[in-house]
Amino acid sequence: MLGIPQAPLLRLQLALLVAAGAGARVSAPRSLVWGPGLQAAVVLPVRYFLQAVDSDGRNLTSSPPGQTQFKVFVKSLSPKESARIYVPKPLDRNDGTFLVRYRMHETVHEGLKVEVLYGGEHVAQSPYILKGPVYHEYCDCPEEDPQAWQETLSCPDTEPQIEQDFTAFPSINLQQMLKEIPKRFGDERGAVVHYTIVNNHIHRRSLGKYTDFKMFSDEILLSLARKVTLPDLEFYINLGDWPLEHRKVNDTPGPIPIISWCGSLDSRDIILPTYDVTHSILEAMRGVTNDLLSVQGNTGPSWINKTEKAFFRGRDSREERLQLVQLSKENPQLLDAGITGYFFFQEKEKELGKAKLMGFFDFFKYKYQVNVDGTVAAYRFPYLMLGDSLVLKQESPYYEHFYVALRPWKHYIPVRRNLSDLLEKVRWAKENDDEAKKIAKEGQLTARDLLQPPRLFCYYYRVLQKYAERQTSKPTIRDGMELVPQPEDATSFCRCHRKTPGREEL
Ligand SMILES: *[C@@H]1O[C@H](CO)[C@@H](O)[C@H](O)[C@H]1NC(C)=O
Ligand SMILES: *[C@@H]1O[C@H](CO)[C@@H](O)[C@H](O)[C@H]1NC(C)=O
Ligand SMILES: *[C@@H]1O[C@H](CO)[C@@H](O)[C@H](O)[C@H]1NC(C)=O
Repeated sequence: MLGIPQAPLLRLQLALLVAAGAGARVSAPRSLVWGPGLQAAVVLPVRYFLQAVDSDGRNLTSSPPGQTQFKVFVKSLSPKESARIYVPKPLDRNDGTFLVRYRMHETVHEGLKVEVLYGGEHVAQSPYILKGPVYHEYCDCPEEDPQAWQETLSCPDTEPQIEQDFTAFPSINLQQMLKEIPKRFGDERGAVVHYTIVNNHIHRRSLGKYTDFKMFSDEILLSLARKVTLPDLEFYINLGDWPLEHRKVNDTPGPIPIISWCGSLDSRDIILPTYDVTHSILEAMRGVTNDLLSVQGNTGPSWINKTEKAFFRGRDSREERLQLVQLSKENPQLLDAGITGYFFFQEKEKELGKAKLMGFFDFFKYKYQVNVDGTVAAYRFPYLMLGDSLVLKQESPYYEHFYVALRPWKHYIPVRRNLSDLLEKVRWAKENDDEAKKIAKEGQLTARDLLQPPRLFCYYYRVLQKYAERQTSKPTIRDGMELVPQPEDATSFCRCHRKTPGREEL
């Protein structure tokens, strides 16, 4: 999904959502507008809000006819403060809701004025006034009280995956990790990076050669440190695909708490949201175009107009993907699957052929999406779940941070690991269209909730906090570590109210 990271563009964007009913006329005053983009204190790379459009007090459930007539203006409250704010057109989610996004390039101290108009009329309580300061993503202004910060973001009280991951680690012995990790995982081919955070400054050293992906761990840690004061902690992050720690809880010596992006049933790694979804949130409306918000406004034709076939495009990173293409050749009326690039099974290219690359948003022309693992969990899964097609998910020992909240037959259709029941499941979906549509919808709504940008920040913070609480010795900046500086933001103005000059002199 992610592709090659692109050079950062110094532009910011923002997003919004709206709900409406089939053929119904939109009532601007009765529509609803809500979301974190209307709260000054919620600092997100891209702020967004949702707006439900009622007519006769009923929510619309499909797009109002004709061109989207919602317009949004986001301006600095004070004429003396001009701020660059990027506000693209609202994204139509095709279910009567629109997603409105905006990205601020600069901080405003006085405040923001957000106007939402339908035709010429103000929507709901528009204009909305956000009293300043309203900080942009790159303003280094951490909230000192983590509890207050978590409340502002409406972080959930518990994250079941985090609870589960930490049960193996009632305490964390940094000295033992310091001794063992370089030996076990720090060889030439390793992808482990050692971080120490002290006084909200981030330091690190790389243990192996394959650690370029530290740009992804750096960017989220820096982003968090600009928003909230991080606890002092020392940890190792695994930037490779596979989880590393296969010792069992009762083994001697016991497992070590390595942090990874992907979990598996036979490993103990503590997991974080993948670099892919994290980067997608941080760089939405900058270097990344397929992100967790934009995909919601690009879900293709409505359900009845989607092609009634299961669809797959991807690389040859797992044998079942090749089997899928074989099945597709034999059953073109049920399945359209193709490999777009060969690397692991190059000898198969002649036999199976190579499919043309297709834009991700075009996947949603098909009613059913097949999710088959890559080397580990397929990181497209969150994006597929946010679409409005039915997801057929291969059973897998691998998981990302949010899978724990999803249930087979409620949010997606499970398919055996060897795909032996795939065709049967596609036939079932075709014959039970109402049920299939309902599962697709339930999956989409749940994914929208689980994958909201603020929840990813909450998740990261919670993992760091739990980890810090369990450390049995003091985190230390080790030999060979370097400081990871905050990015230059010289073209933007921001004065952090938590760092008054008076206090810095003290
Ligand atoms: C309309 O949609 C909003 C937002 O999803 C929801 O909170 C509200 O309960 C809905 N109203 C009705 C009458 O269904
Ligand atoms: C389905 O497609 C037809 C033909 O393009 C179009 O007229 C119709 O409005 C579409 N239906 C829905 C519900 O989008
Ligand atoms: C596929 O896996 C199932 C168990 O999940 C097994 O019963 C079946 O024999 C397997 N089919 C093939 C073709 O290997």
